[in-house]
Amino acid sequence: MLLAPLDAEEWARSLLAAALPRRWSHVVAVAQKARVIGRELGEDGRLLEATAWVHDVGYAPSTMVTGFHPLDGARYLLAHSVSERIASLVAFHSSARAEAVEFGVATDLVEFQDERTLTRDLLWYCDMTTGPDGTDLDFEDRMTEVRQRYGPDHYVTRALDGGMKERRSAVYRSRDWLMSVGLADQV
Ligand SMILES: [Fe+2]
Repeated sequence: MLLAPLDAEEWARSLLAAALPRRWSHVVAVAQKARVIGRELGEDGRLLEATAWVHDVGYAPSTMVTGFHPLDGARYLLAHSVSERIASLVAFHSSARAEAVEFGVATDLVEFQDERTLTRDLLWYCDMTTGPDGTDLDFEDRMTEVRQRYGPDHYVTRALDGGMKERRSAVYRSRDWLMSVGLADQV
């Protein structure tokens, strides 16, 4: 099904707000950026915002199966009849591919497809420029924050270097586009 932003917001709120309030603050801030960007994105605008609302539902205790949140979230969404496109955007968000290798679930991601579009880049951008509590962060500062929060031995940190090139590329392409539509200073 196509997921309307308002429905996505309510759904994500029910899964995350009480269980993981700090994560919920992050999601709210990511989705607010996606909403602003979505107004300039044309037909994918609403999809970008809806996906931003649900991008971290895999952290919710009630959705967790493998413990790898992009995969658990994507499978949960698909099981609830959300479109494959949204599920795939969630499955691969913010260089989840590199994290999946470190976590040991890389082969599971073949259920989904990384569409490598501007919409995908912008989702990554919104997520990777928003801190864990919803604070606005420069991309490089966010990467430093992730490294410090998880520590050197965690799979997320180990995956940072492997995925850094595609993360940075997505952010640079997003910045170019944001500049071209006059949003560079707003998100
Ligand atoms: Fe996120």
